[in-house]
Amino acid sequence: MHLRDASSVTPDPVVPRHVAIVMDGNGRWAKRRFLPRVFGHKAGVDTLVKTVLACADRGIEHLTVFAFSSENWKRPTEEVSFLMGLVLVAVEKYLAKLASNGVRIRMIGDRGQLTDRLRQACDRAESATRDNTRITLWVAFAYGGRWDVVQACQQAMRDGIDPAQLDEATLGRYMAFGDAPDPDLLIRTGGELRISNFLLWQLAYSELVFTDCLWPDFGETDLDAAISAFAARDRRFGLVKTAPVQATGT
Ligand code: FPP
Repeated sequence: MHLRDASSVTPDPVVPRHVAIVMDGNGRWAKRRFLPRVFGHKAGVDTLVKTVLACADRGIEHLTVFAFSSENWKRPTEEVSFLMGLVLVAVEKYLAKLASNGVRIRMIGDRGQLTDRLRQACDRAESATRDNTRITLWVAFAYGGRWDVVQACQQAMRDGIDPAQLDEATLGRYMAFGDAPDPDLLIRTGGELRISNFLLWQLAYSELVFTDCLWPDFGETDLDAAISAFAARDRRFGLVKTAPVQATGT
């Protein structure tokens, strides 16, 4: 049985509205240059800024990046401290540039795990860019997909939502993006083929593109290749698409 015929299915957009990226491969990038791993993260921030602007130029409305996962706390203390400090440095170095280019910044993740100083830097980045509309950069920091599901359930329970009334749309509004659209395209750099506890709920129907490119090397050509791969995909969202019936004249 066909649930909907092709004429009622929205045509696949060529440019995704929302792109999510697992920025993997920083450590290997640095190692190949005989540098400490953290140099890869530092270079990764520069790549991130270029990528946000490239996404905005292409009409992408939302970009979500995995900057620090719930599991990354288990990395060596010096690397964790470096990544925390990198947020402060990045805000100092790039906030004005992003703000003047129409980027709205939103942080998603467990803010309760961050130091006061880091929370203040996140608040500052968000409030300075609050009214921008060109593109939203969602920075997932101290974020995990399972954490997101749990915090959404906790918040819904605190709000006294009746379990019988709790449906996917309602719970979805408690998740990290609230009412923003789910990612259409997930890109993972660095050659690994896994989701790593990123947006488990929101990636339900995202198209996945994996590339061996290490994050600091990711450039506009790689972004365009991922968008082209996305444009060639047949997104069915669990439906069946049928070709329109051609009149044969017989
Ligand atoms: C994974 O590479 C990358 C990370 C854990 C951190 C990504 C963070 C950035 C690019 C910086 C973003 C910073 C801000 C301020 C938003 P890896 O270290 O696992 O690389 P490997 O697989 O080669 O070891």
